[in-house]
This record gives sequence, structure tokens and C-alpha cells, in this order.
Amino acid sequence: MIQLIRGFRDILPGEVELWLEIERIARELLENFGFKEIRIPIMEKTELFARSIGEDTDIVEKEMYTFPDRKGDLITLRPEATASVVRAYIQHRLFAKDPVQKFYTIGPMFRRERPQKGRYRQFYQINAEIFGIESGLADVQLIFLLVNLFTRLKVADLEAHINSLGCPKCRPNFKAALQKFLMSISDQLCSDCIRRRDRNPLRVLDCKVPTCREAMTEAPSILEYLCSECRRDFEVVKNSLQKLKIPYVVDKRLVRGLDYYTRATFEIQTRSLGAQNAIAGGGRYDGLVKELGGPEIPATGFAIGFDRLAEVSGLKASEFYQKPHVFVAALGKKSGSFAFEWICDLGLKGIRADMDFSEKSLKAQMKRADRLGASYVLMVGENELEQGTAILRNMQTKEQVSIPFDDIVKKLKEAVR
Ligand code: HAM
Repeated sequence: MIQLIRGFRDILPGEVELWLEIERIARELLENFGFKEIRIPIMEKTELFARSIGEDTDIVEKEMYTFPDRKGDLITLRPEATASVVRAYIQHRLFAKDPVQKFYTIGPMFRRERPQKGRYRQFYQINAEIFGIESGLADVQLIFLLVNLFTRLKVADLEAHINSLGCPKCRPNFKAALQKFLMSISDQLCSDCIRRRDRNPLRVLDCKVPTCREAMTEAPSILEYLCSECRRDFEVVKNSLQKLKIPYVVDKRLVRGLDYYTRATFEIQTRSLGAQNAIAGGGRYDGLVKELGGPEIPATGFAIGFDRLAEVSGLKASEFYQKPHVFVAALGKKSGSFAFEWICDLGLKGIRADMDFSEKSLKAQMKRADRLGASYVLMVGENELEQGTAILRNMQTKEQVSIPFDDIVKKLKEAVR
């Protein structure tokens, strides 16, 4: 039997109802906050991701699904959405009318990571981006939205982690100081971190290897190297979070796995997830629009890990499972053809209707109706056909009434209202 690709998974009925509910609530909240949906392709030219996420990141170095198309051009299954949204913003000159734009997009992403609980090779993100607002208040609004969304979805033990990654003016000084520190502790670093030390030293800060973590406790903090503008921006972020009563932790090790970030970055974590504890991450990326060929326009955004969110949400799929309103139990061929017409008609009129297509006994059909959780059973047999009526049974109260064929839709509409 052919099985799924490792790290990929099916979201089956019984689980998908929760996904739909999460998506419904997330869309509603995003739209209330002024975000408009944008749909972007699943594949892009490899260069787009390499340039935006950064050549020296784990994602670009070893996690992308990249292959030549039939002409030999390298294309990649998107590992994230931000690069594509920025490309679309530039390509369609969406900034020309008004540089301030807010977009959201929901869909699958692909990263060839080592699969484990909460980490998949195809996973879904709910992604939001704000263009054209320089103020740290935009970042705060994103964090506020996330925390409120997660609270509404009954996620326990939420923690907002924030940090500032500075700007091209102040970050080089920090990088130099960090590199100097890393040289002094080289003998305690893992082989990956030795490589990172020279090429992308910030990444050493969030290495998960215990010896590296231990060795990094005395590492310099970027917050001490921020220029005055970045410092002021970070103060705005912290003060506004306080005003909105959003608890946060300043986490000097929060550097994120993508290179485009500047200034405020954040992650929303939950302790109920185990090792993969981030349900959302994001931050400011003021240089990326220009880097990808657009004008100099600031931007900030986030992505929620949909799979992880569904795992930790206290809402249950069974609360949203749509059971049939009515099951039509027909006895005999002729009744069966009536029943078939009714379920087609009822479905169009907004009543969830089902039947058995294989002339089973009434008992067997009632059993099936019960298993499906139908609220009503509509019974029709030889006698009913003669009288032009069907029997409607309320499965909860066991009450039965007789209704003329012509009134079936009307009566059921009243009953399921
Ligand atoms: P990210 O931190 O790489 O950021 O991903 C955001 C979230 O996606 C993570 O916090 C996690 O919940 C989820 N996620 C990431 N990888 C996996 C995986 N392999 N399996 C399951 N879930 C995963 C970004 O992608 C940025 N584009 C966010 C952003 C938007 N920054 C600015 N705008």
C-alpha cells in the first residue's frame, strides 16, 4: 500500500472541523483589524527565498524542497509566505495607491525538517503582513491580535517573547561583539555553531544543544547595542504592550530563523506544546521590500503555526461536527426513489439530509441514522406511499408525526431551525 510521504499528513474529518472553526475565527478577527486576504502561489523561483530568508539560514541551506522545472530553472515549494507577499506587493505596485496595506493569507508551507510532534514537512500557516507603518505600534497590534486570538481559542499557558534585532546601523556592532565572544568559547560550541560563528553568528543564540546554551549564558545582549532610534522603538513596543495589559518576556536570545528581521521580533509560545513551543512568530522587516526591488517601505508581520495551534486549542472538533438533520429511511424500491428526490431537494434548501442507498431493513437503517447522529428520521414505506404521507420521528423525544409529501421541506425547515 502506498503511504504518505514522511512528515506529511492528512487532516481527516473529525479533526478538520476544528481547523475550520479556527480559520473562521482567525479570518473574522483579521478582517476586523483591517487585513485583506491575498492568495499567493505555492511555488516561487528559488532565488526569491534565498534572497529574502537568507543564504546562511537553516531553511535555505538544508530545508527547502527545490528542484529544476523542465526547462532547468530552479523552483521551490514555499517554506514561508512573507517573501511571496512582498514579491506580490512590489510586482503589482500595490504600494503606488497607498503604501499602507494589510494582508493575510492561509495555506501550506514546506520545510524538510526532522519530523516530530508539532513539526511537519508540510505544515500550515496563518500569515499576516502590514506594509507602510514605521511605528512600533504596528508590531504591538500584531502581538495583541495573536494573544487575543489564542485566548479565544482556549490556548493555555501563553507567553509572549519579544526582542529587538536592531537595524543595519547598530546590528554590525553587536555582530562583531558577539563574534568576539564566540571566539572565546569556541571549544564549547557544537560543529554547527562553529560554522554559524563565522557566517551567521546571531543564529548561535538560539541553538538548542545544551552545551551551546550553557556556554552562551554570558553572551552579550543585543539590547545593549541598539542605536537610539531602535532603543526608542523598543520602548514604544514595551510600553504599549503594558498599556494593553499583554504580559511579555524580553528574551535576548530570540533571534528567529530568518534573516530579514529588524527591530522588534516576537514569538508567542505555550508551555503545553513540548519542544516545539512556538505557535506564532514574527517581527519587523524594514529592509526587505527594498532588498527585493521595491521602494523603501517598512513592514512587519507574523505567521501562526496552524497545526500547532490546532493541537493546543482547548476547543474540540466534536463541538463543530455537522451531523445530518434528517436521515430518510425508505422501504422498497419505489419509496427509495422518493427518498432520493427528497434528500437532493433538502440539501439544496440548507437541510443536511442523508439516506441508505441499499434497501436495508428498517432496523438497519434506524441503526445507521443513530450512528450518524441524525436529529430526525423520515420514514416512508408502502403504506405511506399509498397515503402520500411520511412519518417524521424526532430521534431525541421519539415523538412521531405524519406529514404530507408536499409539506416535507417546509416541516423539516421548521423542525431544524
Ligand atoms: P517562522 O517562525 O519560521 O516564521 O514560522 C512561524 C510559525 O510557523 C512557527 O512559530 C511555528 O508555529 C510554525 N512552524 C514553522 N515550522 C514548522 C514546522 N516544520 N511544522 C509545524 N509548524 C511550523 C515565519 O515563517 C515568518 N514568515 C513569519 C513572519 C511573517 N514574519 C514576518 N511576517
